[in-house]
Amino acid sequence: MAISKKVEDILNKQINAEFWSAYLYLSMANYFESEGMAGFANWMKVQFQEETSHAIKMLDYVNERGGRVILEPIAAVETDWDSVLSIFEETYKHEQHVTSLINNCVDVAIEEKDHASVNFLKWFVDEQVEEEASVSEIIDQLKMFGCQGNGLYMMDKEFRTRTFVDETKAE
Ligand code: FEO
Repeated sequence: MAISKKVEDILNKQINAEFWSAYLYLSMANYFESEGMAGFANWMKVQFQEETSHAIKMLDYVNERGGRVILEPIAAVETDWDSVLSIFEETYKHEQHVTSLINNCVDVAIEEKDHASVNFLKWFVDEQVEEEASVSEIIDQLKMFGCQGNGLYMMDKEFRTRTFVDETKAE
């Protein structure tokens, strides 16, 4: 059964939102580069790759269901921030917003009685729980000991080792 227009539209919007998230995190990565924080920049670049993989996972699904993917322009993102903490607080807020967008996609799929899309979106619902938790953990670390000096240096060092693992391919 082909995807309904309503589900197609909301998933197209979500594809754009995932690319926008990717763009936001890449902007944050470049900010960290300019501040000489290579580890935090690396963490954000991996985040960029994750968001891109989310968009690709979703557009592959729309195509698989016989829908039409329309790539809209990606809106501009911020380029400057006040502190490391403010970046991660914004990231946390943004991920909470993405969670509400994903929930909205699920609501539309339920309204349309599109069980395949409800199933498909479950992966994103679970992913959002992980994303919020990992960012919240970083905020706690920053508040405890990382806002300056040695703590921040240690976190930057640790984040140099983060690598992208394409979880969209895992079951
Ligand atoms: Fe694709 Fe961070 O949500």
